[in-house]
Amino acid sequence: GSKKVLKNKKVIVTAGPTREKIDPVRYLTNHSSGKMGYAIAEEAASLGADVRLVSGPVSIDAPAGVQLIKVESAEEMYQAVLSQYDDADIVIKTAAVADYKPKKVYKHKVKKKSGEEYLELERTKDILFELGKRKNKQVLIGFAAETEKLDDYAIGKLEKKNADMIVANNVTAEGAGFGTDTNIVTLYKRNGSIDHLPLMSKHEVAAKILDAANRLLKDEQK
Ligand code: PMT
Repeated sequence: GSKKVLKNKKVIVTAGPTREKIDPVRYLTNHSSGKMGYAIAEEAASLGADVRLVSGPVSIDAPAGVQLIKVESAEEMYQAVLSQYDDADIVIKTAAVADYKPKKVYKHKVKKKSGEEYLELERTKDILFELGKRKNKQVLIGFAAETEKLDDYAIGKLEKKNADMIVANNVTAEGAGFGTDTNIVTLYKRNGSIDHLPLMSKHEVAAKILDAANRLLKDEQK
């Protein structure tokens, strides 16, 4: 049986994609199924944590014993996460947040016409960056979904986002990334340690991430 090492700890997990509306029938999104984030939420709950799962639209059920907060857009995810942040102990940002959203949302379905000025995009808020800026005692863990140069990008994100750990996955590798039941990740910590994990189930990956998170939490309490 697992020990309740996260008892009385508040853990926020974000999961799934975001959905950025274009008009009443169309939106921008990505391939995230929510499996990775939901596995982390489930594992955190089994370790006794008080879990807030902030999730974009997915077709899987929330694990028992977690508090599900459903959101749609990057903006909604930003608001939900920030409102839970101040007294959180661990924050794990698994969600695949859209980096861009339509500059304007059409009230009516857009008809086929010239098309040129149909879709103008602007940046969404960078939630992880904001959390890094406002960090007090939280252990802040981000993900990095990359298709190349994992090391450079992951280490870059650690610095830029003021994160304590980045979980990087090469989303083009077989058995890794979006939709699969397995993942291949590397854990990059602030202290410079790099841990390349082999292919394993997303539940096993979740256990490794929470083990690392718990160690970081203890370090901070010293
Ligand atoms: O859901 P699954 O099908 O199981 O797939 C899992 C996964 C591939 C989605 C997951 O393993 C993963 O890699 N999640 C991060 C996806 C992502 O958006 O990565 P990124 O490199 O674009 O973003 C880096 C980090 O910044 C992430 O922690 C992300 O949550 C965060 N971010 C990104 C954009 C934004 N506007 N705000 C953010 O907070």
